[in-house]
Amino acid sequence: MFKANQNYLRLQGSYLFSTIAKKVAAYTEANPNANIIRLGIGDVTQPLAPAIIDELHKAVDEMGKKETFHGYAPDLGYEFLRNAIADEYKGRGCEISTDEIFVSDGAKSDSGNIQEIFSEDAKVAVCDPVYPVYVDSNVMAGRSGEWIPSEQRYSNFIYMPCTESNNFTPEFPKENPDIIYLCYPNNPTGMTISKAQLQEWVDYANRIGAVILYDAAYEAYITEKDVPHSIYECEGARTCAIEIRSFSKNAGFTGVRLGFTVVPKDLRDADGVSLHDLWARRHGTKYNGAPYIIQKAGAVVFTPEGQKEIREQVSYYQKNARVIYDGLKDAGYTVYGGVNAPYIWLKTPDNMTSWEFFDHLLEDVHVVGTPGSGFGPSGEHFFRLTAFGTYEKTVEAIDRIKAM
Ligand code: MLT
Repeated sequence: MFKANQNYLRLQGSYLFSTIAKKVAAYTEANPNANIIRLGIGDVTQPLAPAIIDELHKAVDEMGKKETFHGYAPDLGYEFLRNAIADEYKGRGCEISTDEIFVSDGAKSDSGNIQEIFSEDAKVAVCDPVYPVYVDSNVMAGRSGEWIPSEQRYSNFIYMPCTESNNFTPEFPKENPDIIYLCYPNNPTGMTISKAQLQEWVDYANRIGAVILYDAAYEAYITEKDVPHSIYECEGARTCAIEIRSFSKNAGFTGVRLGFTVVPKDLRDADGVSLHDLWARRHGTKYNGAPYIIQKAGAVVFTPEGQKEIREQVSYYQKNARVIYDGLKDAGYTVYGGVNAPYIWLKTPDNMTSWEFFDHLLEDVHVVGTPGSGFGPSGEHFFRLTAFGTYEKTVEAIDRIKAM
């Protein structure tokens, strides 16, 4: 008799955002008149920018003509998009070439899949709290060890607490990891890392022979000067870092799907094996490329017109972040994040657990957020709100919470 992948049996419950969706659906069914405001999952609400829509239309028309039709996309992505991305890196002073960029259908897939190119016994370090995909994908791959219920953690992972006491920036772990996941601006805390601090992580990774998997999905939300947009702004990152980027949060592509991963050619394991070659091999075998239409639309993001329009959209969400941050602060909450990120991380009142606060908000004011404990044990007694709602609903949600 066949046997299922036993690693999957170690996963805890369902994916965090699926659990929340199910809870909200059950509540809505029981209370059909409840006017629910969703500030849970970081999904965008504003329509695609006009320049992007124009390009989509043009690309669709091209697909309808024999002369301009496109079949399979090149494995690693179309040059027109990869060149535009490489130019953006150049503009930031980062030395990344076109053939080190791998276009994909989004940062979630890449951040879940990238662990495949590492050995099965690689020691994984994650921030705590953390975007659940990094943890779950490594559980699926058999790197987790056992789940320890009393500690709400897996035995083989290194958890790096990000708490108020370290301003939500992790310290180097006591045990040396092989793979280190970092996400800045951070999901879920909305906090950032300074360039000097990130440089220390790069130096550390090079010193101990680890790889940093750097998720920069929220870089468009950076407002402060000292906060790096890319890990490649740090010296030495080419020998220790892979960077993952998204079009979801800067250009509203959550329903369109586009992202990319940078794997520098200088990145080699202890035996000199090139991670770039392995990721290219994986891409070639398991992926047939993001659609032409979508890559055309993605390239608009790097044009002056596209930049202007998507900056306006990012500003819209940044304004929401301000509304949430200031409103909650006025109401006496302890609040973090929101300045360089679309997430606001608040401390639950009266020492409520994160899920108690979730139920309280849902039942009493019909506002949905994300319980901090869903991101890891150090997220307990915290709660995440997203700035990706509409302005009107965001204002209303905060008014409701203030009146609670
Ligand atoms: C989140 O809410 O954390 C994000 O939307 C999840 C994602 O980008 O996949």
